[in-house]
This record gives sequence, C-alpha cells and structure tokens, in this order.
Amino acid sequence: MGDRVLIYSRIAGTGSYLPEKVVTNADLEKLVDTTDEWIASRTGIRQRHMAAEGETTGDLAFYAATRALEAAGVKGPELDLIVLGTTTPDIIFPSTACLLQHRLGANGCAAFDVNAACSGFVYALGVADQFVRSGQAKKALVVGAETLTRMLDFGDRSTCVLFGDGAGAVVLEASEEPGIFTTRLHADGGYKHLLYNPVGVSAGFRPDEPNAGVRVLMTGNEVFKVAVKTLDRIVDETLQAAGMQESDVDWLIPHQANLRIIEATARRLKLSMERVIVTIDRHGNTSSGSVPLALDEAVRSGKVQRGQTLLLEAFGGGFTWASALLRY
Ligand code: UT7
Repeated sequence: MGDRVLIYSRIAGTGSYLPEKVVTNADLEKLVDTTDEWIASRTGIRQRHMAAEGETTGDLAFYAATRALEAAGVKGPELDLIVLGTTTPDIIFPSTACLLQHRLGANGCAAFDVNAACSGFVYALGVADQFVRSGQAKKALVVGAETLTRMLDFGDRSTCVLFGDGAGAVVLEASEEPGIFTTRLHADGGYKHLLYNPVGVSAGFRPDEPNAGVRVLMTGNEVFKVAVKTLDRIVDETLQAAGMQESDVDWLIPHQANLRIIEATARRLKLSMERVIVTIDRHGNTSSGSVPLALDEAVRSGKVQRGQTLLLEAFGGGFTWASALLRY
C-alpha cells in the first residue's frame, strides 16, 4: 500500500444464504384466517424461507459470509472488522458477530452486532464505511442476518405472514476510487409503540406470559404511512449529500417489507420497476437480511454490473431508517 491515500470503501464481493424450507401463502392459510390473495395483493409476498430447527442466525450469517469472502477473494484471517446487523441474535452474548468471527478464523479483529431492526444491514454498512474511511480497517465484513420467524406468533395473521429468514453479506475493501459515496443513518425512538417486541432482559423475560418471546407487535398501516414519507425524505437527502440526481441511480435496492412501499420509493426516484431489485415475492421481509440478499441476487444474476450506481435503503422498528449510495 505504501503511503497512498485510501479514502473510500468499495464492495469487493457479495454473498447470501436462504434456509432450505419454503413456506408458501397456501401453507399459512392452514394456520390463520388469511388468503394467498390478501397476502400477495397487500404485500407482494408469495412465499418465505424458514430456518430449520436448530439452525441459527449465526449459521445463516456464516454461509452468507463464506460466499461473500469467496467472491471477494479474501480469507477470514485477513479481516480486520466484522459488523453484523441483526435483531435476532443466537444468544444474548457473545454477539453473533463474535460467534461468526471464530467460525471464519478471523480471531482478533473487531467484531460487534448492530441492532437497528430492519435497517440493521444498512446501519452496519454505514459503520463499517466509517472505519474504512478513517483508516481503522482495510478489509471489513458486513452482514445482515435474521431468523425473524423465531419471534413470530403463528396465531397472529397481521404479522406472521410478513416475515422470513435469511442472510446476506458484503466484503468492503479500502480503495482510492468510490465505492461508497455516502451513507445516511437515522432513528426516532418516539415511534417505538408502532413496531416492537416487548420481551427483553432488563425489562424482564416474562416467561409466564403466553407466547413469551415470540411477539412482534406492529400497527402495520401506521408504519406503512411513516415508512413511505420517511423513505422519500432519505432519498432526497442521500442524493443531495452525494451531489447526485435521480437519473444517476442505476438500481434501487430497497428493504423488502411491502411491494407498495418499494413502488412508492421507485416513483419518487422516477425509476421504472425494471430498475428496482425485488425479492419480496420469494423472500418475504427478512429484516436486516433483505437488502444484502437483494444485492447479492442482483449481482449474481448479472443485473448489477461493476461501475453502476446503487441506492440502498431500509426502514424498520425504532423507527430506524438508513441509506447508502455507492458505485458497485
Ligand atoms: O420492515 C419493517 C417495516 N415494516 C413495514 O414497513 C410494514 C408496513 N406495513 C405494511 O406493509 C402493511 O400495513 C401490512 C401489510 C402490514 C398490512 O396491510 P394494510 O393494507 O395496511 O392492512 P391493515 O393493517 O389496514 O388491515 C386491513 C384489514 C384488517 O381488517 P378490517 O379491520 O379492515 O376488517 C385486518 O384485520 O386486513 C386484515 N388483515 C388480514 N386479512 C387477511 C390483516 N392481516 C391479514 C391477513 N389476512 N394476513
């Protein structure tokens, strides 16, 4: 490297993993009072993947990370940072990032989780980008991994049809060329009551309550309205921060919570849906997993090409919201 100045981080490789088991809308019709028609027309979801018994977030993260490292031509021990977005860690501690670090043979590098609900991966990307830009890390692994189905109430039709399990990862490398132009991270804890899981450590495990620990509580239509408005705002903010315009964006790689939210953001960007990566029909909402899963699928299918400009965005419980604008 000599004394060359490396001021950007760029994506050197991507990877993802989906558990084998597929749960279709028809399968859910047998569990709750719902229909394939309702789920598909209101959300765009047709099926989702579900982790096998004993298969953890850390397992999904490991498979996705292994593929990303392979694509980047980087070995685990070369990493000097692992940041993992999740809201469904394997255990309370050590962090899933630490568990993953050991499995990758990257022992010694910094490793930590970021809990920003569905914005977890984009938050993790923003954090890792700062480490690379400041010279603290040269090779960083960024993961979004979740087993959301573990905390769903399969008697509650308003939430159990929405989520799925999966993981995605990218390897970032220091570079003289962009790379990531900008990342924008935001939160507003005033919205906690609209989307949360009340079970915790300090607030109590509440083991006597029915469905203890398996409850995502969401006022969906309220979340929807705030999500659309907020994502509109962050699109403007991100383009402005990078000195770019809508027409500079080749691909929108959005969080996959609802096809109608994705379409609204695409309209705001004046981008046709052919330029939007959509996986929600097959993956459902995989929370932190959704953006890197969509990115990896777009890269491996040949849609996203080197040199193209990508806008990544996410919105989730907190509320949190975040974006990244980058040249792939
Ligand atoms: O990833 C984190 C961020 N999350 C989001 O961004 C999610 C945002 N919200 C949404 O995607 C949508 O609000 C939902 C998909 C969750 C719900 O769609 P909606 O069009 O907003 O429906 P709604 O909640 O207003 O409910 C409409 C009706 C209700 O019945 P009534 O009161 O009109 O009789 C619900 O009980 O749909 C009913 N309903 C269902 N019906 C069949 C709710 N869930 C179901 C279901 N099947 N699974």
